[in-house]
Amino acid sequence: MTLSHPTSHPTSHPTSHPTSRPTSGPAGGAPAARPVLLHLDSSATRGPASLTRRLTGRYAAAWRERHGSAGYRYRDLAATPVPPIGPGYAALGQRVERLGPAPLGLDGVSALVARPAAGGTGGTDETGGTGENSAAGADLEGPEDAADLRREWAMTRPLIEELHAADTLLLGVPMYNFSVPAALKAWIDRITLPGVHRDPRTGEGLLCHTHVVVVTARGGGYGPGSPRAACDFQEPYLRAYFTEHLAIAPERLSFVHAELTRAGDLPKLASFREAAAASLAAATARLAELAAR
Ligand SMILES: Cc1cc2nc3c(=O)[nH]c(=O)nc-3n(C[C@H](O)[C@H](O)[C@H](O)COP(=O)(O)O)c2cc1C
Repeated sequence: MTLSHPTSHPTSHPTSHPTSRPTSGPAGGAPAARPVLLHLDSSATRGPASLTRRLTGRYAAAWRERHGSAGYRYRDLAATPVPPIGPGYAALGQRVERLGPAPLGLDGVSALVARPAAGGTGGTDETGGTGENSAAGADLEGPEDAADLRREWAMTRPLIEELHAADTLLLGVPMYNFSVPAALKAWIDRITLPGVHRDPRTGEGLLCHTHVVVVTARGGGYGPGSPRAACDFQEPYLRAYFTEHLAIAPERLSFVHAELTRAGDLPKLASFREAAAASLAAATARLAELAAR
């Protein structure tokens, strides 16, 4: 852990069932789409002792007040961790990439998973190659590997569907060692399979209309011009990830930072208590604004 100078808790009901976003019907026909909020917390600290949980909880409460609870989904990535990816997942990603740049979509990947193993000794891979390069060599060798791949995909697809169904993704992200908690990284690694976040027919990003609100808390201060500004590997990392990998529109991606959160209890940061209170007040106000839009 490195520190630099510088509430209400959500009801926990993790969802493992995928939700499909209802679509609007013809004018005057089917009911309008129901908004869906996917709320993910990743702090190792449980309950209201976690500042990010308190802040995301407030946003979620305001959102539910406006939209009702039917479209609210919650996952506690620390309490119920997403399993780290294994060899079957890596092999699946390589298979998908070898098929080329066109997005496969979720059903395309499911079809690939259902196919017999390719790329074993003397075999040909799905592109017709001989499987001599390292990626093909890492491909499936037998029935156990194929079962592993199916297990990995079964753990992955519902998480991706859950994300695709959301209009808004809300993330609670404490800074851990200048970056994001491993619990969040495990979710990111699992949902980021090539070719599944674009429409296979049109190539359009499936998340280009999704809003993402990232709420961070940091013990120290990393704002522009501060001595540790260059050590912020949270916002630059998540910004690059969401815009480059998930094709989230930059104007739909919001960061809200509560800084200097340890000023209240660490003597070396005592002189930053006012700055910490101001940072928390600004974060709270910004979140209320975002929840109201
Ligand atoms: C494992 C760990 C690593 C941390 N690393 C940093 C760090 O690199 N920089 C920092 O400013 N604060 C660091 N902190 C402090 C937290 O970011 C800070 O206390 C934050 O407010 C925690 O949010 P939470 O209450 O939602 O868990 C760390 C805390 C923990 C538990």
